[in-house]
Amino acid sequence: MDRFAYRDGELFAEDVPVSAIAAEAGTPCFVYSRATLEEHYDRLAEAFAPIAPLICYSVKSCGNLGVLRVLAERGAGMDVVSGGELFRAQTAGVPAAKCVYAGVGKTDAEIRDAIRAGLGLFNCESEQEFENIARLAAEMRETVRVALRINPDVDPKTHRYTSTGKKETKFGVDLERARRFFATYGRDPHARLEGLHLHIGSPIYTVDPYREAMTKTAALVEELARDGFEIRSIDLGGGFGADYESSQSPPLKEYAAAIVPLAKPLHDKGVRFILEPGRTIVANAGILVVKVLYTKTSGDKRFAICDAGMNALLRPSHYGSFHFIWPVAPGAAMTPARRTLDPKIDGTVAQDVVGPLCETGDFLALDRQLPASLGRGELLAVFTAGAYGMSMASRYNSSPLPAEVLVSGSRAEVVRHRESYDALIEHEREPKMLSLRSPAPVATRGQVPTLEKTR
Ligand code: LLP
Repeated sequence: MDRFAYRDGELFAEDVPVSAIAAEAGTPCFVYSRATLEEHYDRLAEAFAPIAPLICYSVKSCGNLGVLRVLAERGAGMDVVSGGELFRAQTAGVPAAKCVYAGVGKTDAEIRDAIRAGLGLFNCESEQEFENIARLAAEMRETVRVALRINPDVDPKTHRYTSTGKKETKFGVDLERARRFFATYGRDPHARLEGLHLHIGSPIYTVDPYREAMTKTAALVEELARDGFEIRSIDLGGGFGADYESSQSPPLKEYAAAIVPLAKPLHDKGVRFILEPGRTIVANAGILVVKVLYTKTSGDKRFAICDAGMNALLRPSHYGSFHFIWPVAPGAAMTPARRTLDPKIDGTVAQDVVGPLCETGDFLALDRQLPASLGRGELLAVFTAGAYGMSMASRYNSSPLPAEVLVSGSRAEVVRHRESYDALIEHEREPKMLSLRSPAPVATRGQVPTLEKTR
């Protein structure tokens, strides 16, 4: 369960009215609940306690420094996939030694920086990448720890864009190649190959793919032991679900019940476990607040046109994902008893909730039952938007990125300001090749109609 709830017809984030947050931070804005983040982290740690994993929160799901700091205070390490994410983790106070670094395309500069920072573990995705890490570590006269990302060829039964554990994806090394990988690189003096890493997809709503992946991993550990290679750490990746429909707590105990019995014997032999959860911690800990600018009807279709759409939350348009949406202050009569696919409240009509961008694909929801009275200036809350919301937001149509607010009890703090127009262009430079005194040279040829001439 999360800490966003209606009281007397008005939505609260913990103890703060969401309308007050929107008035202060402006819209669109993401609002995160500290208590929800902490509760999800603690429940995960508790469910997996028998194998005492290092929980490396997946920065890509939501990298706001405030969110990272909340989790760092809980003792979390971080899963990063770029130099930028490692920089965020370190800035939030997480030592590089508690970070694991995956990703199929690490650059030399990123690898060097990570080595210099004292990275905990490289999760290596290919033979060439291993050779490169080993070469750079040798050049720097350092020794680094490496886990091989294996691809166990398991179908996670999720969206094909986020299915990563099948053989035909770009991630990791398949099981047949894994033994050869150790035989070739397992004795490198600078890149010590001592772990296995897997991440099979996201989100995964059934436990069987984990069971299958863990079974294959345990078998590989035995084979490698026979070949003379000892595995010291296993990183099981992320992918645990979040409830997008009704915001119930994720079934962390069920995942643990499937994984722990297979992992415990290895844990008892000294293998260190790592988890890389993102969504299951932060999805329900965040909402996106948007404002209805206009409503309109085209043919039979009714639209609520908001001040943000796919630029702030890409998931509905990119993956066809469902996010529950409801007004922030609907009044007691229009408050749903709970979030569900169909809240069954009288006085609703189907409407498309769309953004301001110039694309038909710019929507947050299609044909969604929302109050017929929904009108200009009303705020809408898009629930379960904490994961892969802000981290996938874009400036398309020169839209400034949304604000982010962290709530704790009755305190709300803006932890990222909504961008200014200056920020939109701050990295752009006036081309020196063009004379500043003739800003539109083509127009001087008289062939380009100006607005004035066409009037
Ligand atoms: N570890 C690795 C190596 C990953 O690639 C990912 C996610 C995670 C951990 C965290 O997965 P999580 O626990 O958050 O499911 N943009 C998509 C999700 C892409 C996931 C990419 N990798 C979405 O909005 O659904």
